[in-house]
Amino acid sequence: MADAAEDLLDSGERLDAEALRALQLERLRAALRHAYAHVPFYRESFDKAGVHPDDCRSLADLAHFPFTTKADLRENYPYGMFAVPRDRVRRIHASSGTTGRPTVVGYTDNDLSLWSDLVARSIRAAGGRPGDIAHVAYGYGLFTGGLGAHYGAERLGCTVIPASGGMTARQVQLIQDLRPGIIMVTPSYMLTILDEFERQGVDPRGTSLRVGIFGAEPWTEQMRQEIEERFAIDAVDIYGLSEVIGPGVAQECVETKDGLHIWEDHFFPEVVDPVTGEVMPEGAQGELVFTSLTKEAMPVVRYRTRDLTRLLPGTARVFRRMEKITGRSDDMVILRGVNLFPTQIEEIVLRTPGVAPHFQLRLTRDGRLDVLTVRAEARADASPDTREAAAQAIAAAVKDGIGVSVAVEIVDPESLERSVGKIRRIVDLRDG
Ligand code: DLL
Repeated sequence: MADAAEDLLDSGERLDAEALRALQLERLRAALRHAYAHVPFYRESFDKAGVHPDDCRSLADLAHFPFTTKADLRENYPYGMFAVPRDRVRRIHASSGTTGRPTVVGYTDNDLSLWSDLVARSIRAAGGRPGDIAHVAYGYGLFTGGLGAHYGAERLGCTVIPASGGMTARQVQLIQDLRPGIIMVTPSYMLTILDEFERQGVDPRGTSLRVGIFGAEPWTEQMRQEIEERFAIDAVDIYGLSEVIGPGVAQECVETKDGLHIWEDHFFPEVVDPVTGEVMPEGAQGELVFTSLTKEAMPVVRYRTRDLTRLLPGTARVFRRMEKITGRSDDMVILRGVNLFPTQIEEIVLRTPGVAPHFQLRLTRDGRLDVLTVRAEARADASPDTREAAAQAIAAAVKDGIGVSVAVEIVDPESLERSVGKIRRIVDLRDG
């Protein structure tokens, strides 16, 4: 579908590079002033760093401003990061977080409208059009996935099926009966839906689905291939995080599938060295950092996402791209000195015959030594010999490709916990 037809682009997408940079600087200066004037946390952190919003005269000057972390948001729980009076906050979302207090985020009417516009822009970049039927199987609720996708699809002019997550047999029925062209869901739950199609003996290639918009967790090129082949659809990546707005911060264009264009007329990206915090040159790997340029209720200044990627020049759009996220700096397993991300294991599992794309990493301790066990599900038709060969192949590929020895267990089909939302890839049993 090479019809990124000019007339479908919105005014932000039509800016040229120079106009975009000028708009970003103007918005950045206003955003810093807004945060400094209305959020005591930012006033203190800027003052402590000896910087003032007026010091930002170029986009590069942003590097002088202090970072904001998830811990800062937690300390100001629940409403301390809001820059508008509470009665102007129209909606709250929260990200679960594995420990302690959740992170609460807020939106004004304008923020909600902007969010809808950007998700609509994302769906359009993915190949969706007004009049399409969109099946939303991201969870609805405090998680930003369901409602974010929902209002964006409505804004584009789609007919929305608010399926939310769960009740997988019903998802299959809805897809068959209501005939959506678009599905928005986590990639791991899409695989669970795939299992259900097969269990019911329904051909997943025969559905009305044309485009899948997958995000909220890392997934690989191999996973894209698997989903595209088994469903006969285009599978594209959507990225976002609650703290910045939710889904619709960056989106892959279906005509190029070459990484995600960051909607940088509203979210200014930087990539920094995760250890020193120094800004990295374009093209270098590091941690993604965002500054919101137009958000009212909860502006963020240099928010550390913990997501690892690199910035690349724009292709299908004027905006810079980010490479598919390879992992989070806090998702990284350091096994006997070797850094390892679940996505690296995913690539290996997906190219190994006899195993299904469902796997989990289990960390245990043997004496002083950390042991990583890759538990992957056998395909239903895999013989004991195939299973044995798969275990050896995975262990060898991890040893060769990543440089560390792991144990591999091929478990029975459908025996690992299935995901409705984000899958839990790492089970850490080292303490207690
Ligand atoms: O996951 C927002 C979202 C919903 C994005 C639906 C896309 C689709 P949080 O729950 O706050 O928000 O989690 C944000 O999820 O920092 C990444 O680590 C991860 N993540 C989100 N999208 C992707 C993606 C939503 N496309 C955290 N690839 C982020 C890899 C992703 N990781």
